[in-house]
Amino acid sequence: MKKILVTYATNAGSTAKVAQAVADKLTKTAHVEVVPLEKVTSLDGYSAIVLGAPMIVGWHRGALAFLKRNQAALGQKPLAIFVTCVNLTRTGETSQEGVPLFIDEKLPKAPKNPARLGIKENYSTPKNYLTPILKLVKPVSIGIFGGSLQYFSMKWWQVPFVLLVIQAMPGDKRNWKAISEWGGQVAGKFAE
Ligand SMILES: Cc1cc2nc3c(=O)[nH]c(=O)nc-3n(C[C@H](O)[C@H](O)[C@H](O)COP(=O)(O)O)c2cc1C
Repeated sequence: MKKILVTYATNAGSTAKVAQAVADKLTKTAHVEVVPLEKVTSLDGYSAIVLGAPMIVGWHRGALAFLKRNQAALGQKPLAIFVTCVNLTRTGETSQEGVPLFIDEKLPKAPKNPARLGIKENYSTPKNYLTPILKLVKPVSIGIFGGSLQYFSMKWWQVPFVLLVIQAMPGDKRNWKAISEWGGQVAGKFAE
């Protein structure tokens, strides 16, 4: 049986459950291991990989470092990526640099003036979030999902940044239906 790695980075913990929900959709056709990123020692033996991480002032630094470290190996195997976040500007894009996007429909907000995005709107576009990832790898699909923002679970020095820059209300925006749907799509792509 094929072996698939589902790995994730997290700041406050909520992305772990998203990774597990994706993994649950992959188990029909493969043996799936869900492993936190810092515990992954080698990609040998896996036929495909899912990597998920939140936006933490740019995509989680550990996840980007993982892509850089393993760029060569990840170019040889099917890779799917997911991003959790709380702000996303609706741009109507369904792909980015040729990579199909799956966007949780409950997440994006329409810009006030689509012809001229504000600074925060521009910062929160799929293009801005994904460009650093797409410079390194070419995934079979990228999922963008609502995450969970809780003041009590973040580091104290992150609170002013979140209040001033992210300006999002705390809450759990994880949409399990969308996450499972994407997991099913990824299972199909990995089987191709
Ligand atoms: C310091 C900090 C920075 C963040 N930056 C962004 C951001 O740039 N864009 C965004 O949409 N969400 C941002 N978020 C929200 C997180 O992406 C969201 O809460 C995510 O679900 C956290 O996942 P975790 O619980 O696995 O760490 C930020 C949260 C924190 C604490």
